[in-house]
Amino acid sequence: MKRYHVTTFGCQMNAHDSERIKGMLESIGLGEAAIPEDADVLVFNTCTIREKPDTRLAAYLGDAGARKRLDPDVVIAVGGCFAEAQRQRIFDLYPFVDVAFGPGSIPHLAEWVGAGGVGVTRGKFGTHEHFAGHLPVHRERRFQAWVQVSMGCNSKCAYCIVPAVRGREQSRRPADIVAEVTNLAADGVSEITLLGQNVNSWGRDLAPDIQTEFGELLRACDAVPGIERIRFTSPHPKDFRPPVISAIAECDSVCEQVHLPLQSGSARILKAMRRTYTPERYLALVDRLRDTIPDLALGTDIIVGFPGESEHDFEQTLDLVEQVRFDSAFTFIYSPRAGTEAAVMPDQVPEEAKHARLERLVEVVQRIAAERNAERIGTVEEVLVEGTSRTDSALVRGRTRRNTMVNFSGTADTGDLVDVLIESATSTTLRGRATSLVAV
Ligand code: SAH
Ligand code: SF4
Ligand code: F3S
Repeated sequence: MKRYHVTTFGCQMNAHDSERIKGMLESIGLGEAAIPEDADVLVFNTCTIREKPDTRLAAYLGDAGARKRLDPDVVIAVGGCFAEAQRQRIFDLYPFVDVAFGPGSIPHLAEWVGAGGVGVTRGKFGTHEHFAGHLPVHRERRFQAWVQVSMGCNSKCAYCIVPAVRGREQSRRPADIVAEVTNLAADGVSEITLLGQNVNSWGRDLAPDIQTEFGELLRACDAVPGIERIRFTSPHPKDFRPPVISAIAECDSVCEQVHLPLQSGSARILKAMRRTYTPERYLALVDRLRDTIPDLALGTDIIVGFPGESEHDFEQTLDLVEQVRFDSAFTFIYSPRAGTEAAVMPDQVPEEAKHARLERLVEVVQRIAAERNAERIGTVEEVLVEGTSRTDSALVRGRTRRNTMVNFSGTADTGDLVDVLIESATSTTLRGRATSLVAV
């Protein structure tokens, strides 16, 4: 049997696309190889959100090219967002690549790679055509699953390459989503994460007879028996309407956790970024969320060094972080992407200044996250078990409803829901001991 290996870069959407890529390759009779060296078909599912993933990919593809020189029959396929950004150019950059495909053409993969890895259509690039939602899927986790609700993004954030590589927003039909969730529940899945680039604008582009909105989708998924936990990512602050907030508050299985990308605390920079909200509106939304959803965990994304960002703008970001007190935050140095509006803006911030700002921001973010986690000490949290601890095999690892990683003593199997008394905390993890198995 011929075997494949998929290397995945980027976000959860890409991780889920890789499950579809694997499902497609298995549907034509390939098996999975544990390491790339044992594979006949090497797939790279790429990301191009910042320069760093591009650089990492170049190193991986260097190795793949060396392998191809030794073994010309090996098939090299490059998919994902970098492939979509480069299109046909990828064959000039990396002449040993056989197949390149954008996120919209995963359905063609079987045809292009060919049955058993033979009959490869060389030098072929495919672009957006299909929604991958119906494809076979090789799930990585037994009790947790991603569910794609939309593809693409209609926003025009000045720094972002995603609309260029993932296309216009297209919502998946509600009946198809609920059918997938029902099948997952029947298969033993208890936690789902609904995925969309702009997940809470889902539904607006649907045909008038099935038009609905994201809050209704949360309620429909909540009604599926067997689903204990529902998460979603990423919502855009501009689309967080009251029905979504009340659905989170009222649906038992929707977790008390929202990842709400802020990007900047400066009104001027938010405007230049085309985020379409002000710091005041963001803060008002946070207040509304916290007033309606008790014990809410808030995460965010922040960019430092957007073109024109002054020391004063950056300090406004620090102030906003202090005011909101996020439970977690992903922090990024602005990275110019060719073809985006911001890449050609004047006043690009020098590298040293960007790095210095990131360091200052990370310090504040980590201090607050550690304080927020320390507030959990003494509480009992429901934990969904994911396996054994990565650092201590005597401990069990899982996540709370608020999406914090917990390592705890006790015995439990993957997929169990366990009550854990929290005894200590760091900025990223909690530590505790099991008090009981929660009946499900
Ligand atoms: N669709 C999602 C996520 C987009 S990418 C959303 O809008 O929430 C994830 C994060 O990467 C963004 O929230 C942003 O903080 C960051 N990002 C996107 N483009 C970037 C760039 N050019 N440079 C640095 N960070 C960027
Ligand atoms: Fe990019 Fe903005 Fe769309 Fe998110 S909402 S994917 S940051 S353009
Ligand atoms: Fe995700 Fe990277 Fe594409 S963040 S949408 S894989 S550019």
